[in-house]
Amino acid sequence: TKRYRITLLPGDGIGSEILAVTTAVMKEVGQQLDLQFDFQEALIGGAAIDATGNPLPDETLATCKDSDAVLLAAIGGYKWDNLPNAQRPERGLLGLRAGLGLFANLRPAQILPQLIDASTLKREVVEGVDIMVVRELTGGVYFGQPKGIFAEESGAKRGVNTMVYTEAEIDRIGRVAFETAQKRSKRLCSVDKANVLEVSQLWRDRISALAPNYSDVELTHMYVDNAAMQLVRNPKQFDTIVTGNLFGDILSDAAAMLTGSIGMLPSASLGASGPGVFEPVHGSAPDIAGQDKANPLAQVLSAAMMLRYGLNEPEAGDRLEQAVQTVLNQGYRTGDIYSEGMTAVGCRAMGDALFTALGK
Ligand code: NAD
Ligand code: IPM
Ligand code: MN
Repeated sequence: TKRYRITLLPGDGIGSEILAVTTAVMKEVGQQLDLQFDFQEALIGGAAIDATGNPLPDETLATCKDSDAVLLAAIGGYKWDNLPNAQRPERGLLGLRAGLGLFANLRPAQILPQLIDASTLKREVVEGVDIMVVRELTGGVYFGQPKGIFAEESGAKRGVNTMVYTEAEIDRIGRVAFETAQKRSKRLCSVDKANVLEVSQLWRDRISALAPNYSDVELTHMYVDNAAMQLVRNPKQFDTIVTGNLFGDILSDAAAMLTGSIGMLPSASLGASGPGVFEPVHGSAPDIAGQDKANPLAQVLSAAMMLRYGLNEPEAGDRLEQAVQTVLNQGYRTGDIYSEGMTAVGCRAMGDALFTALGK
């Protein structure tokens, strides 16, 4: 039996509901493949603020560092929305990413044939979409200095964030992006705002300078405003996209909607070494929390990414992904992906359906 230590971070909102489904199906797959998952839960986000006053307790970071992989649900909610930024749940997530050095965030957006009718876009636009957004995760305007709300002499306040990228930061995310593209359709589009921002000029120069090392990859560049438009107009032109932290945050939500629902999309956050964090692209969905309405599939697919990329157990990842395919083929749909004629289920019933599908 192979054993893996996995830290679970349920966080807030729908987090505990979707994680409960996910750990149940992971245990089943573990039994089938002789893998043992030692799950340990830790606090992050609003739940950690309420219990300890800190959105990322030292103990949580230590537990994560000491595990083979981290499975995170989501953080945030109305209750903490009026706290100053430095004390918000979101700060816990940013601290986790920085603390584990997770500079590369892989966000695949692939439309499943079963869900084409759940997309708000036309069938011919979304059919066959298969995009990988490679988002830089520990730099850019999220972390650049100076930052803060400063008082002028007049007493008027000034809010400041700074978009910064060093050559080394651009090069390391660039290499991940080129290597990702090599394993896919070998097309890489780098997205920036080089027509206005100096930080983007440097970004473009460095990404271009890497290209000769990956001569099998076709590199193009696009401005972020155009990229947002093109993602909706003709998403099939994209294969791998590489971009900075803020642009990647925004574009990955847009890409998510091509696939029908943000409730379907997983992600992997990876560093140069050490455990990765695997989490859905969506947030804590406070509007539906505690109502058994959440779609658990993004979380289950995040666990599949964890098995594949974090633990090198591709067979276990395949089984989870196949179970997702099976339940969709059977017509089970949570509210966010419901279309006419399908079987409406809640979060728990979707979990039961997955469990049954794994047995087949
Ligand atoms: P959100 O992704 O939580 O929700 C946006 C909409 O999508 C909501 O209507 C929600 O009900 C729906 N939705 C999201 N996930 C779903 C799922 N699995 N099943 C069904 N419907 C789903 O984004 P938001 O409303 O902008 O943010 C809510 C909170 O989450 C905020 O505090 C925000 O900071 C936080 N957030 C956290 C993460 C994270 O932890 N990685 C990511 C994004 C937002
Ligand atoms: C995400 C989220 C986070 C981000 C927030 C909650 C800090 O939107 O993971 O996409 O902006 O990175
Ligand atoms: Mn986001």
